[in-house]
Parts: sequence; C-alpha cells; structure tokens
Amino acid sequence: MENERKKEHLENFLKSNFKSSNLLENVYIEHFALTDLNFDEIDTSVDFLGKKLSFPLLINAITGGAESSYDINEDLARLCKHFNIAFESGSQKVALQDEELVESFTVINDILDNKDVIISNLSALSSLEDAKRAVEMLKSDAISLHLNPAQEIVQFEGDRNFSGILKNIENIVKNLDVPVIIKETGCGISKKTCEKLLNIGVKYIDISGFGGTNFIEIENLRRTDLDFTNIYGWGIPTAKCIIDCRKVSNDFTLIGSGGLKTGEDVAKAIILGSDMTAIAGEVLRFLIHGGYKVAEDYLKSLIYQTKMTMLLLGVKNIKELKKVKYKTFGKLKDIL
Ligand SMILES: Cc1cc2nc3c(=O)[nH]c(=O)nc-3n(C[C@H](O)[C@H](O)[C@H](O)COP(=O)(O)O)c2cc1C
Repeated sequence: MENERKKEHLENFLKSNFKSSNLLENVYIEHFALTDLNFDEIDTSVDFLGKKLSFPLLINAITGGAESSYDINEDLARLCKHFNIAFESGSQKVALQDEELVESFTVINDILDNKDVIISNLSALSSLEDAKRAVEMLKSDAISLHLNPAQEIVQFEGDRNFSGILKNIENIVKNLDVPVIIKETGCGISKKTCEKLLNIGVKYIDISGFGGTNFIEIENLRRTDLDFTNIYGWGIPTAKCIIDCRKVSNDFTLIGSGGLKTGEDVAKAIILGSDMTAIAGEVLRFLIHGGYKVAEDYLKSLIYQTKMTMLLLGVKNIKELKKVKYKTFGKLKDIL
C-alpha cells in the first residue's frame, strides 16, 4: 500500500507541470569584468557533517516504490560518489515495515562508505526507535525528518493529526546519536518555524521551499474525490525562506533547496545565506528521462556553471561566495 503510493508519487512527479518560481530570479548579483582568478583554482569544497565534500550539494530525499527504488538509489549513490557530494535517502518507512524492501535502500552501502556523507530520512512524526533503526540500516551520518503537512492533508491516506510534533522532534534531537536535519518537502520553512526548531536544539534545517517539486499537485493527481487544483500555488518561495531563516541566526547549518536547477541557482542560494544546497526533482528528471550518463552530465554542467558564476563574481571559494552582495527586486522584494 505504502509502496504503491510511493510508485504513484514518482509517476505523478513526472506528470506534474504546474509552473511556479522559487524567486531566485528576483536576486540580482553583479558581473565583475576585472576578475583575476584562475578557473582551475576555484575551490568549491565544504565541510558538512564532519566530512569534506567537493561541492556544497546533497541529492535530496527521493522515494519511488520498491521496483524503481533499487535502481534509483543505486544511480543516485553512484552520482554522489562520482562528484563527492552528499546522499540523502528517501523515506525509509517502507523498509521499516517490510524487511524485503531493506535491500532497495542498503544498495547504497555497496557504493558509499564511511568517507561519504549518508543521510537517512523519515517523517518528523516518527518514533525515536524508528529513527534509530533508519540510521542503523544505512550507517548514516545524520537523519533528516520531514515536515510535510500540506502534502499529508491533500493525500487521501495522509496524516491528519500533527499534534505533539515539536515535542517529538525534540525527543529525537536529544536522544539520537547522530545530528537531526529538519526539512520541508517543497512548501518551505518560515522564520517562525525556524525559530521554534532552533529553540529545541535543532542545528540543521533544509528549507525545501516552494518553486520546484509540488507535492500538492502530485497528491492531487492521485485523487478523484476532492480537487485541490486551485491551491497548487501554496508555499513560501525558496529565496524568501533562505533570507528569512538566515536572519534568525548564523548558528545553524542552512540547506537551501526547492526548485534549484542551475549553477547560478546554487551560487545564489549560498549568497542568500545557505551553507549547503540540495536538489531532488531536477536530478531525478534527468536520471529517469536520460539515464545515468545524462544525469552525470547534468551535474557536471551544474558544477561548472557554479564555478563559472564564482569566477564572474571574483570569488575563489565558498566562504567568499557567502559574502557577495546582492539586491532583490520584483515579487521577492515585495514579500520580504
Ligand atoms: C519523487 C519524489 C519523492 C520524494 N520523496 C521524499 C521523501 O521520501 N522524503 C522527503 O523528505 N522528501 C521527499 N521528496 C522531497 C524532496 O526531498 C525535496 O524536499 C523537494 O522535492 C523539493 O526539492 P526539489 O524542488 O529540488 O525537488 C521527494 C521528492 C520527489 C521529487
């Protein structure tokens, strides 16, 4: 049942076509013609979860049902190994419920080892016990717990009761041996949500903002009884989430995600205040439509474009990129 739903998510993700924007295009950064850098010396490496990555990117949580999960996870792990970027598993709930599905997740451990960053994933409503089992299953460096009330409420069989969720997160943060990342799934983390999470000791937040994968649409495509077409536009654009949450504090790791596609998007997400970035939908699209090599070429271009953007801004590493000045205009400026 759960497994069937994940398969439909993947199919409906490919069918979804609602046009939206994460508003990164409303961020202006200025070209620097007198750049005096050597492209080959531009350093995109970052430290994340105690390990060194070559590029500040993680492939974000993606589930797809048992049949396709094995192959997708294997390919995503290979991509992470190839580029030395972080891997985040899709929700492991199905594997906690059905032993036979464990292998479609643990396939990643044949490719990634303890030098690589592996992140587990479950709902933020999960028990501490399940969080421990999910981390053990993949020998993960951290677990990310998703907040997805908009998705659940549109989902026919979804959760309706979110009471006690903050207490539950606090319990997991305090009692799990590895760091906990709290993430959205495409509707964004607001300033208020960020403050509440930091107050209970959360140190990692993936804002997963609006403007990319749209789970209200994906779930609506599975329903025939009620219709939610008119609320596909619900959510906080990624650019606003990053700016608002970074203003709350500098003392946590902010992962900028939601509709990131290009190297310029990655650079802008970092300039606005992200320490790391994440992509799910766009990598998945290239992988499913074109296969492993096409997804690899996509990430190769994305990394090249990010370095190119850095060269054209005159910054030689991620620390300097974070300090680049920017201006906002249009809708982003209006809603800030
Ligand atoms: C097919 C698909 C399955 C996903 N499954 C999960 C999941 O199991 N757990 C989760 O936390 N997020 C899941 N996500 C959400 C992504 O991790 C990410 O937060 C969201 O898609 C926004 O990023 P994007 O615009 O780059 O896709 C999924 C996304 C896609 C496209």
